[in-house]
Amino acid sequence: MNLKLKLNVVPFVSVDNMMKLVLAIGVERFLLELAECIEADFRRWESFDKTPRVASHSREGVIELMPTSDGEVYGFKYVNGHPKNTREGRQTVTAFGVLADVATGYPVLLTEMTILTALRTAATSAVAAKHLAPKGARAMAIIGNGAQAEFQALAFKALLGVDTLRLYDIDRSASTKCVRNLAGLGFGITVCNSIEEAMEGVPIVTTVTADKQNAMILTDNMVGSGLHINAVGGDCPGKTELHADILKRSDIFVEYPPQTRIEGEIQQLPSDYPVHELWRVIVGLEPGRTGDRQITLFDSVGFAIEDFSALRYVKRQIEQTGLYDELDLLADPDEPRDLFGMLLRAAATPNAA
Ligand SMILES: NC(=O)c1ccc[n+]([C@@H]2O[C@H](COP(=O)([O-])OP(=O)(O)OC[C@H]3O[C@@H](n4cnc5c(N)ncnc54)[C@H](O)[C@@H]3O)[C@@H](O)[C@H]2O)c1
Repeated sequence: MNLKLKLNVVPFVSVDNMMKLVLAIGVERFLLELAECIEADFRRWESFDKTPRVASHSREGVIELMPTSDGEVYGFKYVNGHPKNTREGRQTVTAFGVLADVATGYPVLLTEMTILTALRTAATSAVAAKHLAPKGARAMAIIGNGAQAEFQALAFKALLGVDTLRLYDIDRSASTKCVRNLAGLGFGITVCNSIEEAMEGVPIVTTVTADKQNAMILTDNMVGSGLHINAVGGDCPGKTELHADILKRSDIFVEYPPQTRIEGEIQQLPSDYPVHELWRVIVGLEPGRTGDRQITLFDSVGFAIEDFSALRYVKRQIEQTGLYDELDLLADPDEPRDLFGMLLRAAATPNAA
């Protein structure tokens, strides 16, 4: 299906169509294919425009814009993070995004990205873990069992074969929701009464809690040698999940250091503290895990290139499936300079506009 429609039209993927798309492809296949796209874009890391995301902070949360471009295609995401939102029935994180053609500046896709963000965050975590987690790791603790949790579980299953989960959340109903949602998907799941219990014997821990403070989800005594930590929930100034002592014992891997130093766990460390860039590991310029006793930490905050990969993947998929609506988004007068004339003609013939 050709997405080059009338010039006024931009393909729009609603939440409804995104859900249909993900279900038609299958969640695990979607995660695998998206992970491949993210890895491919990380391999050409140096060809992207990069900037820390533009964040507008308030007492309860943050609103962020995340732009990037590879010179041919431009993409950005609008995303918020408001941990108290769930108390009023709202999501902690919502998002939408745009792709545009650099040559004309015309948008070529507008899409929901709340679901897509959960998928791309999980896919990126699993890509990192492929390089950093102990070989053969099949069990993972997930601390924080909210909106992102099942996506994380399924990405680790699809990419690494993780089939054993130990769940903990301060709100037990979040864990039982996860158990219900993941039933029949090939996991053995234990709901735990404490973080310590959840961490017993696992080679991987994912922290994905939401709380706007310097939290101590993991303290130093909980972290044994050989562990891979996938730290997802600390992603804003003043919003972290790990005790600083853990960072000092870990080899730390990040997306884009200038952004992670502001937002990630490493905001707790001096600004020149050595970290490894994930893209350099993916292209083979640096090793990932090098030993059995090494503690590896993926200090995930989410970077614009991951959203760019996800947007391009979705664009390709809707071309094949037609799962989009035509959005009348761009004014398109017959004569490009006659924008005002178009307005006047609409007043004369309101239904013809
Ligand atoms: N790194 C990234 O790319 C990225 C992407 C998306 C979301 N996030 C972050 O991930 C976090 C989770 O997002 P979500 O959409 O799942 O949020 P959510 O509000 O749906 O779920 C968060 C869960 O954490 C639990 N929780 C809070 N404090 C806890 C604690 N001390 N111990 C155990 N559980 C605790 C809550 O009860 C809730 O169930 C947020 O902080 C969000 O900002 C990061």
